[in-house]
Amino acid sequence: MGERSRYLPRRSCLSVPGSSDKMLGKAPGIGADMVFLDLEDAVAPLEKESARDKVVKAINDLDWGDAVLCVRVNAWDTEWTYRDVIHIAENASERLDELMLPKVQSAAEVQALDMLLTQIEQVTGRQGRIGIEAQIETARGLINVEEICAASERLETIIFGPADFAASTEMPVLTGGVQVDEYPGDHFHYVFSKILMAGRANGLQVIDGPYLKIRELDALRDYAMRTRTLGYDGKWALHPDQVKVINEVYTPTQEQFDRALDILEAYERATTEGGAGERKGAVMFGDEMIDEASRKMATKFVTRGERAGMTRSQESSS
Ligand code: GLV
Ligand code: MG
Repeated sequence: MGERSRYLPRRSCLSVPGSSDKMLGKAPGIGADMVFLDLEDAVAPLEKESARDKVVKAINDLDWGDAVLCVRVNAWDTEWTYRDVIHIAENASERLDELMLPKVQSAAEVQALDMLLTQIEQVTGRQGRIGIEAQIETARGLINVEEICAASERLETIIFGPADFAASTEMPVLTGGVQVDEYPGDHFHYVFSKILMAGRANGLQVIDGPYLKIRELDALRDYAMRTRTLGYDGKWALHPDQVKVINEVYTPTQEQFDRALDILEAYERATTEGGAGERKGAVMFGDEMIDEASRKMATKFVTRGERAGMTRSQESSS
C-alpha cells in the first residue's frame, strides 16, 4: 500500500523466517508494529526459492491488521535478488507495503531496486507504490549512508544491522548487537549517531536492528533504551517475547505524553492570545521557559504517543 506505511509506527519490527509455514502463520497475532517476512539470512540457501511462494501466500491469505508489512529480499551480491523482487512484487497483493534491501553499500543499489519496482508496478497495474527499507550493515554502507538515505523517494526507513556490521568491521565479538563489556562506553555510539543523522536529514524513520540474546529481556530493555534515547523510532524483534519489551521502550510514558500535551497547549495560548504586542514566543511553563523548540520536542512525544494509541489521562496542568 506504499504511502500508507511511511508514517506508521515501527516501534517493534518482527523478523519472520519466510521458509517456516508455522512462524508465518503465527506472525500476525504477535502485536508487532511492523513485520518483515525474511528471504535473506533467516532462510537456508536450499530453501530460498521455495520460501518465495510461502511468503506470497502469507501476505495474500493472512489478516495483518494495521501492521506495516514488508519482505526482506536477498542482497544484490547474491544470485537471488532480482527473482525475489519480481516474484514478490508481481504476486503479492496490494497489502504488501515495502521491500527491505539488506547490506546496502551504495545509493546505486537502492536506485536499482527502485527502477525494477517501477517497471513491475507499471506492468502489473499495482495501485500503491511499494516502499523501501534499507539496511546499513557494512563499513562501506556506513561511509555512504548519507547518499543512501537520499537515493529514492520510496525509502521509508534506514536500519542498522549490528550482526553483519560487526562481521564487516572485524570486531572480535561472537554475538552482534549486545553490549561489549570490555569497551569503556558504547562501541556503536558513532554508528548509531551517524545513521540517525543521515536518516533524519532525509525524513526517514530510523530503526535499530536485532538483539541476539533472545532470553535476556532485561538486558534487551537496557540496550534498546540507548537508541530510544538518541531518537530512534524502533528496534527489531526476533522473538514474540522481545516485541512486548520493545513496544514499551519505544512508547512515551503517560507522564511524558500528558506533559507534552500541556506544553503544546500552553505554547499555543502564549503565541495566539491577547492583542497586538501581547502575544509571546517564549513563556514560562511551571518553572521552565518554553518556546518554539519546546513545541517541536513536545510534538514528537505526542505523535509517538498517538501512534501507540495513547490518550490524555489528565486535564491541562498549565
Ligand atoms: C541484521 O540483519 C544484522 O545483521 O544485524
Ligand atoms: Mg544482517
